[in-house]
Amino acid sequence: MTQKTYKELRSARWFAPDDVRSFGHRSRVMQLGYGPEDWEGKPVIAIINTWSDIGTCHGHFKQRVEDVKRGVLQAGGFPLELPALSLSESLVKPTTMLYRNMLAMETEELLRSHPIDGAVLMGGCDKTTPGLVLGALSAGLPFIYMPAGPMLRGNVKGKVLGSGSDTWKYWDERRAGKINQAQWLEVEGGIARSHGHCMTMGTASTMTGIAEAIGLTLPGASSIPAVDSNHIRMATECGRRVVSMVWDDLTPAKMLSRASFENAITVAMAMGCSTNAIIHLVAMSRRAGEHCAVGLDDFDAASRRIPVIANIRPSGDTYLMEDFYYAGGMLAMMSVLKDHLKLEALTVTGKPLGENLVGAEVYNHDVIRPLDNPIYAEGALAVLRGNLAPDGCVIKPSACAPQYLNHTGPALVFDDYPAMKAAIDDENLDVTADHVMVLRNAGPQGGPGMPEWGMLPIPLKLVKQGVKDMVRISDARMSGTSYGACILHVAPEAYIGGPLALVKTGDLITVDVPGRRIHLEVSDEELAQRRAAWTPLPKRYERGYGWMAARHIQQADKGCDFDFLETSFGAPVGEPDI
Ligand code: FES
Ligand code: MG
Repeated sequence: MTQKTYKELRSARWFAPDDVRSFGHRSRVMQLGYGPEDWEGKPVIAIINTWSDIGTCHGHFKQRVEDVKRGVLQAGGFPLELPALSLSESLVKPTTMLYRNMLAMETEELLRSHPIDGAVLMGGCDKTTPGLVLGALSAGLPFIYMPAGPMLRGNVKGKVLGSGSDTWKYWDERRAGKINQAQWLEVEGGIARSHGHCMTMGTASTMTGIAEAIGLTLPGASSIPAVDSNHIRMATECGRRVVSMVWDDLTPAKMLSRASFENAITVAMAMGCSTNAIIHLVAMSRRAGEHCAVGLDDFDAASRRIPVIANIRPSGDTYLMEDFYYAGGMLAMMSVLKDHLKLEALTVTGKPLGENLVGAEVYNHDVIRPLDNPIYAEGALAVLRGNLAPDGCVIKPSACAPQYLNHTGPALVFDDYPAMKAAIDDENLDVTADHVMVLRNAGPQGGPGMPEWGMLPIPLKLVKQGVKDMVRISDARMSGTSYGACILHVAPEAYIGGPLALVKTGDLITVDVPGRRIHLEVSDEELAQRRAAWTPLPKRYERGYGWMAARHIQQADKGCDFDFLETSFGAPVGEPDI
């Protein structure tokens, strides 16, 4: 591999020339107390930090950024922290998904506009991983992803609690009057008790695992709990390693191929991944370039081949990410999947994936199962198509009651979330466990931002009868920690006139997961009449970011990226030449 010289670094264009502009750059960096010995001959490393006072999962990043800097300095680089949108999953309304692309734009332009040669991306909470990675892929500089690491297991009175999954479980118990207010408060205080992201196999663990499978993290990095001292050492190693990546010019374009993204799909399936993985991974692969692009059919094909072997909630019933780490973590899991992975795919180590897996071992075969003893024989996700979802929709069979995998029932339609919320606790609601609940106008444009409303609550009347699952269909997403027979991401969405907009309460809907089919039992003639009578809803935003997002966000099957951010849109942006 040929090494770059100092003069060839991007940052040298800011700092090296003997002209008045460079005088301005240097004198202002000196204003911060740095001197030529800090930058001369050294790569400048941006540390994009999604820390904020309200970034609940990244509380340790204020310290961790210092650990990364230590590594950059050890390797002879010049570290600069650049803060970016924190995107706290549990606090941002209407949904962090609306802002994923904003973080992507921010990341890309932070890297492009500053004297930066390489980057460490610090994220972990759900949308931060795809947001940061999307932007960095488009910026095209060498980068490494530093995952926040999962929280420790939750705990209440000696009982283990899992992020999200137990929230839903205890909330249903509270609605059914089985636990009181005091017990509920104890759960509230015990379910998130350390730094780090959700420790179930929700979107956060799925996406950091995917980042590792693509080759964007150090080997094993995604499984280390946030508060483990190994996490500190991993952060420091990120700083050291990215400096070498800059000298070696190991850019994403040189590193990534379709194989990198196929590996990510394989790993996602084996993890029992969050349904959100599809949207983000599709978007990331398209940003990496046409030759890397994967789509819904790649997920469905992989799901028929790859069993779920990570016994982590919500697909598994006991273990959490802390257990996964002790069982050997991501490297161990990938070593089990060896025969299904493209081991030649390059990673940030500069070596192929296969070399990173040498010596990886499973220490607990109940947590990371062998392929012949999976927790679910077919993969985590299935893609359905039919007259209700011509461009596809998604279900997570591993998290739903088996009787609903083949089901026909009458629709109960809600036009929006408030209408659903108002009806759901009405004990006179005309609903049975056979009904198919439909929520629409909750997609990328209609939500707006495709909120995680897809796990519609079971109507109170049915909860009291002991009903735990029923078929639910929406153009929304659902949290990776959710479960149930929820059909999501229906494309095209109702808000732009997709067939979901035409369903009426009482229509029969057939779901056939083995046949990968979803069908509205209404004739084409009748549907054409309904379409002619359909009127679009008013626009959600008249100004600002939401206005822009609504005009440019693509449908779920295309990854919800903005059209103008995709790699194939327009000529590439050049380097600033002033
Ligand atoms: Fe941040 Fe779940 S709230 S990962
Ligand atoms: Mg989530």
